[in-house]
Amino acid sequence: MEKCKILAIETSCDETAVAIVEDGKKILANKVLSQIDIHKVFGGVVPEVASRHHLEGLLPLIDEALREAKCQLEDITAVAVTNGPGLIGALLVGLSLAKALAYSINKPLIPVNHLAGHIYANFLENDPKFPLVALIVSGGHTDLIYMERHLEFEIMGQTRDDAAGEAFDKVARALGLGYPGGPLIDKLAAKGDPLAIEFPKAYLEKNSFDFSFSGLKSAVLNYLHNSKQRGENIKIEDVCASFQKSVVDILVDKTVECAKEKGVKEIIVAGGVSANSGLRRAFEEVCTREGFNLSIPSLSLCTDNAAMIGCAAYYLYKAGRVGDLDLNGYASMPL
Ligand code: KG4
Ligand code: ZN
Repeated sequence: MEKCKILAIETSCDETAVAIVEDGKKILANKVLSQIDIHKVFGGVVPEVASRHHLEGLLPLIDEALREAKCQLEDITAVAVTNGPGLIGALLVGLSLAKALAYSINKPLIPVNHLAGHIYANFLENDPKFPLVALIVSGGHTDLIYMERHLEFEIMGQTRDDAAGEAFDKVARALGLGYPGGPLIDKLAAKGDPLAIEFPKAYLEKNSFDFSFSGLKSAVLNYLHNSKQRGENIKIEDVCASFQKSVVDILVDKTVECAKEKGVKEIIVAGGVSANSGLRRAFEEVCTREGFNLSIPSLSLCTDNAAMIGCAAYYLYKAGRVGDLDLNGYASMPL
């Protein structure tokens, strides 16, 4: 049978990404042009600047991906693109190019939800079995999802305020560490004592799978403010380790509780924060202890990339879920 080669484009935030994925599994090319250094000076992503850099970077990146995959445009079975959620201007750059490309080679256009993409990063390297519980932890989202089969997502819990990655980024900013904060806190936390400071953990109402990180973020800011006022020495490594422990404990506890309530054996974790070494370790420990099968993508597939979009698109394509040329982009879009 002829191979299904999907060219995928991802421009929802500050990574310009293009990938070519065969049969939802084999990554023939996975190119990511990070804009981190450009946005770093502003302390966060500037949407208009992100759009302009996508515009500049996308076409050369497509050429590179085709070269790396040893593919001609005619070999492509379908063009996939993230059409939400994300920064609307950034999304529209990828979407416009994907439409033009699909039209010019007369191949289907497949719209992909960015969050579905994160989940499907797990299906590139592993073979998760349904039913499963998925935790998505990124810069914009913290979602607990139950899946009985492919492409069916039941939201079990969501954040009521800040996303996990957002909390990492805001605490890092308060500590003067720079952007993006997650990897910087992760590194410092490894040298600190997670039990040094007791920061709050919001478990919310009994049986709730929702999350809340704004109280924890405020507690860290208050701790820094009060310590400074009292002239006390702040050990940044301990603040990072203690903050990270609170986030990790809540994420792991709620995910495991949700998996038990749904009676599933399979847990998958996805999104930028799943690159966190403390989170990965905690999930590995609890899943080994409690007998769950665990899947977390390799580091490069945790943060934004287009291979995950190409993988999700394969299942959408097989299900006949292709889009038209009037396809739109959406800043917020449910799974
Ligand atoms: O999935 P992603 O690349 O983009 C979104 O869809 O938002 O996630 C980016 C988020 C940022 O908040 C970043 O600080 C966080 O993921 N992140 C981490 C780590 N690496 C990235 N957070 C904690 N520890 C890390 N190692
Ligand atoms: Zn993402």
